[in-house]
Amino acid sequence: MPIKPLHSDLITNRTKTIQYAIRDVVVTAKRLEASGQQITYLNIGDPIVYDFETPSFLVDAFCAAAKEGHNGYSASAGIPTFRKAVVKKEKRINQVTIHESDVIATAGISEGIQMVMAALVHPGSEVLVPGPTYPPYLAFVRFFDGTALTYRCIEEEGWRPDPDDIRAQITDKTAAIVLINPNNPTGSVYSEKTIKTFVNIAGEYGLPLISDEVYDRLIYDQTPKSTAALAKDVPVIGFNGLSKVYLVPGWRIGYMYFHHQNHEFAELKEHILKQARIRICTNAPAQYASAVALQESDAYLKPVLARLRERRDLVSKRLNEIQGISTSKPEGAFYIFPKINLNNRWTNDETFVMELLHKTGVLVVHGSGFDPNHGANHFRLVFLAPPPILNSALDALQHFMEKGS
Ligand SMILES: Cc1ncc(COP(=O)(O)O)c(C=O)c1O
Repeated sequence: MPIKPLHSDLITNRTKTIQYAIRDVVVTAKRLEASGQQITYLNIGDPIVYDFETPSFLVDAFCAAAKEGHNGYSASAGIPTFRKAVVKKEKRINQVTIHESDVIATAGISEGIQMVMAALVHPGSEVLVPGPTYPPYLAFVRFFDGTALTYRCIEEEGWRPDPDDIRAQITDKTAAIVLINPNNPTGSVYSEKTIKTFVNIAGEYGLPLISDEVYDRLIYDQTPKSTAALAKDVPVIGFNGLSKVYLVPGWRIGYMYFHHQNHEFAELKEHILKQARIRICTNAPAQYASAVALQESDAYLKPVLARLRERRDLVSKRLNEIQGISTSKPEGAFYIFPKINLNNRWTNDETFVMELLHKTGVLVVHGSGFDPNHGANHFRLVFLAPPPILNSALDALQHFMEKGS
C-alpha cells in the first residue's frame, strides 16, 4: 500500500518557522540558473568559492591525520592536542587565558550556538542579539521556544551597538547577551570601549555574555580586542573556529570556550558536555589538522588580507557612487551591508533582492533576513570574489538602479 504524504500538522512549528536567508535565496537562484541565466553568487561567506585557497600546510595536515589512522570517533569534548592548541592560540592571538578543560570542539560555531541555546533557552526566554545579526542566532533561539531580541546597532556610527537599547530590553526573561566582533553582516569592529560596555552590562545584570569572534584576524584597520581579554570578573562564552581565518569552512571545525573567574559556568559546561556526548564527537582528522594549524605562523594570511582589503575598498567606493545606495566601510570580515533607497520602487528589501536577481543574475541577501527591524532596507554583499567579477556585478547593480534593468 503506498504511504500517504505526512500531514502538515505532524510537522513541528519549530522547523516550520526557522529560516536561513543566506541559503534560502539560493533556491530561486538555482532555478534561474537551471533555466539558463548566469548567476553571480555574492551571497555566501565561503572564502574558497572564488580565488582564495586553503593553505597547503592545512591540507597536508588533514591528509596526514587521515593517513595516520585518525579516522575513528574522538573524545566528545575534542582531542587533547586540539584543546591545548586552542588554549595557546587564544593566548597568542587574543590574550585570552583559558584552561584546556574549558574548551569544547564543535562542528563549527554553528553547532556551538545550537548547544549553548539548547542549554540556556527555556520556553519564553529572551536572548539579546545584535541588530542586524548572523541569522542562526535568531533561528536557534526560536528553535528552543525563546525569542531573540535584536539590539540596535547604529549605522551612522559604523554600526556601533547602542548600549541604551541593550539595557532597555533586559528583563527577568533575559538568558544571555550575544555580541559578534568583527561583525557579520556589517563588517563593524568594536572598540575596546564598546566591548567594555557589554562586559559592564553583563556584569551589572549577572547575564552570560556570548562573544562570537570567528573573524578575529580578518581585519583591515584596527586589531579587535577579544571580549574575554577585557572581562576580568565577568564570565564569557567565546565562540571561534577555523572556517574563515583558515579558509576551511567545509571541515566543520570550531570551538567554544568558557572564560570564568570562579567556575561560574561549571554547571552550564556539564550540560553542554552532555550534548557533546550525545552527538559523539566532531570531525576527527579536522581536529588533528587544526591542532597543527593553530600553532602555525600567520604568514599565509598577509596576502589574503591584502586582496580582501583591495576588494573592500573597491566595493565600498563603487557602492557609494550608485544612486540610491549608501554604505559605511567595513573594518573586518568580508561583508558589506549597504542601505537601499526603496523609493516606492520596491515594497521591501526582499523584493529588491529578488528583482535584482531576476534582472541581473546578481545574488545578494536581503537585510531583513539578518533582522527585520534593524536590517530592513539593506542588503548584504560578500566581497570575496575577484575584482573583475565584483566590478561586473557592480556595473549590473548600477545599471539596475539607474535604468531599471
Ligand atoms: C558570525 C558568524 N559566526 C559563525 C559562523 C559560522 O561558523 P562555522 O562555520 O564555524 O559554523 C558564521 C558564518 O558565516 C558567522 O558569520
